[in-house]
Amino acid sequence: MPIITEIEDLKRLYKRRAPKMFYDYCESGSWTEQTFRENSSDFDRIRLRQKVAVDMEGRTTASQMIGRDVAMPVALAPVGMTGMQHADGEILAAKAAEKFGVPFTLSTMSICSIEDIAENTSAPFWFQLYVMRDAEFIANLVNRAKDANCDAMVLTLDLQLLGQRHKDLKNGLSAPPKLTPMVILDLMTKWRWGLQMLQTHRRTFRNIVGHAKSVDDISSLHSWTAQQFDLRLNWDTVKDYRKQWDRKLILKGILDAEDAKKALQVGADAIIVSNHGGRQLDGAMSSITMLPQIMDAVGDKIEVHLDSGIRSGQDVLKALALGAKGTYIGRAFIYGLGAMGQQGVSEALRVIHTELDTTMALCGEKDVKNLGKHNLLIPKDFSGDWQ
Ligand code: FNR
Repeated sequence: MPIITEIEDLKRLYKRRAPKMFYDYCESGSWTEQTFRENSSDFDRIRLRQKVAVDMEGRTTASQMIGRDVAMPVALAPVGMTGMQHADGEILAAKAAEKFGVPFTLSTMSICSIEDIAENTSAPFWFQLYVMRDAEFIANLVNRAKDANCDAMVLTLDLQLLGQRHKDLKNGLSAPPKLTPMVILDLMTKWRWGLQMLQTHRRTFRNIVGHAKSVDDISSLHSWTAQQFDLRLNWDTVKDYRKQWDRKLILKGILDAEDAKKALQVGADAIIVSNHGGRQLDGAMSSITMLPQIMDAVGDKIEVHLDSGIRSGQDVLKALALGAKGTYIGRAFIYGLGAMGQQGVSEALRVIHTELDTTMALCGEKDVKNLGKHNLLIPKDFSGDWQ
């Protein structure tokens, strides 16, 4: 096994092993990709405060996210088409998360179904919902998540329509991929991926196909999203979901203090400060720069989580020190999955855990729950002077 010391190592392996179409799908932001880039680079603007001669024995990264015990406050984010990055990808990622003791979130747009995950794992997982026009299908989907013992629903609010990602259109992104001459040429060098794919029957969107009526062609994500996702989604819809779902409700895609207050009013259990990893509104601020304002607005009244741009344990530490109770990784675990399947996801979690633990110690902290602004050096203009 290659020696993995950082998330970037997994990304390099992933690029060699996964078909270009799916690598590009993961490694893109919308339009100019400004927000995608700044999600990560803005973490670098925050510095850590070194503390010396502090007893570092008996450290812990254990914490809780929405009342659930976690080995570290880092969950796996919902990522569509994960089962195209590696055969049975969602099952493998969920297994790695369970083994590590962190939550796994299954996307509506997954390849493996809710039932596939339930059959192959024993820890409860979280289900991410995209609101679609077909109310009967959605009601059925929510009931399936209940039957599968999902203990939280992550309702994504920042994708009623897709932010354009140029490469997906140029590559003709689909699941399974259409075998054009370009795709065949690419797959010739990705034989490991192909062999594993031939050994599974899970190659299309199994939460949807066979469950939603009048779904003729789901293989093209772009055209299907345009037809099915509900443009009318609004705060009243969110209220309805709050009434129908009696377990934990997490609202994903909050990037604005006013929206955070609305999330509080509808009675959500947590919010995820997120811009969808820079895949939706290009030109929006990075998640980490918006976190301080959102914490000021609602931080003492609702649990605040964050994703977008996390590539290391240091990034996790910075988000926690600014007040987030939990974080999510999207691409960081996909790199691991595409590189080495379940073992790669475990490696991604191990790398982030080691970085978090060591950095915490060098900041003079023994318990992840004690991290705070006192561990950081934040430039005065960090959140900017915007009108
Ligand atoms: C996503 N994300 C996402 N979010 C969601 O609610 N449902 C989904 O189906 C998807 N699909 C998806 C696919 C891919 C390839 C990526 C990279 C992301 C967004 C995801 O949950 C999360 O918000 C971001 O990935 C966080 O940013 P990082 O960690 O990837 O920088």
